[in-house]
Amino acid sequence: MRRHIPLTSLACLTMLTLAACGGGDADPAAYPEDDITMVVPFSAGGPTDTVARLIAEPMAEELGADIVVQNVEGAGGTIAGGQVADADADGYEVLIHHIGMSTAPGLYPDLAYDPLEDFKTVGLVTDVPMTIVARPDFEPETLEDLVSYVEENADTVTLANAGVGAASQLCGLLIEQAVGVDLTEVPYDGTGPAMTDLMGGQVDFMCDQTTNTASQLQAGKIKGYAVTTPEPVEALPDLPTTAEAGLPDVQVGVWHGLYVPADTPDEIVEKLTAALEVALEDQNVVDQMATLGTTPVPAEDVTPEAHTAKLEEQIDLWTPIIEESGVTGG
Ligand code: MLT
Repeated sequence: MRRHIPLTSLACLTMLTLAACGGGDADPAAYPEDDITMVVPFSAGGPTDTVARLIAEPMAEELGADIVVQNVEGAGGTIAGGQVADADADGYEVLIHHIGMSTAPGLYPDLAYDPLEDFKTVGLVTDVPMTIVARPDFEPETLEDLVSYVEENADTVTLANAGVGAASQLCGLLIEQAVGVDLTEVPYDGTGPAMTDLMGGQVDFMCDQTTNTASQLQAGKIKGYAVTTPEPVEALPDLPTTAEAGLPDVQVGVWHGLYVPADTPDEIVEKLTAALEVALEDQNVVDQMATLGTTPVPAEDVTPEAHTAKLEEQIDLWTPIIEESGVTGG
């Protein structure tokens, strides 16, 4: 005998099923039905914000929903990480983050989230070269000069970054370790505002990504010493690599990826990954990234599997280096 299930019970059963799948009341098949928030862990106008806004437009077009970029600053990007880890797992809050996702566990003993357990990866985005740059009137002319100057003036030189956990802070740490000094660090909520002070001469030097430094270097508004990549950066042909200029241990690439809360339905993740793939093949994105000294990752890396493998490998790489340094974010 067929057992008639009253509609109300069927509706409850559906809602319970959806809730159990962590999808809240989102219907993965109908997703997206509302604006999506892309959370950027640093200030507007900085490199992470630049990458976010580059991919948000073509992703929104592919998804058929607006993507609103939200800057959530603080604690080297970990405030934003905690916000998205705790967000509804419905695909309407996406985190863009970079290498800082892999350094946070070593820097923050009480980190509010586990990068591997509390998120699903969506796919890798781009691996941005880092540059070592200075205020326009800073005395050192070359990286070799900078090393000598920093050694002789360690108690007065100021080094800007975007807080403990930022890529700029990690690169600065590598410089301090390579030169054997402990400099006065000046933290900002992003290297957007740090760049403003660097150009104004309020701080001496910093590491920052080509997505924020290329145009200022090409305009002669700041001084450049090197790129931290194994190979020179085509958009900045006058800059040697750190290896060529005598600091081979200062090598770091600022890889970026997209994340959603761990319980987000796979069908929603698949739609976000597909939209990211389309965005990274968009000719305007490719051209803009080239101007900014970077490129989209290859198509085979725009997958959750490749992204998770990168995150695991980077956590394993940086955690002992950071623990050895004794630096913590609190
Ligand atoms: C950093 O890690 O230094 C950040 O990417 C800076 C920023 O995006 O503002």
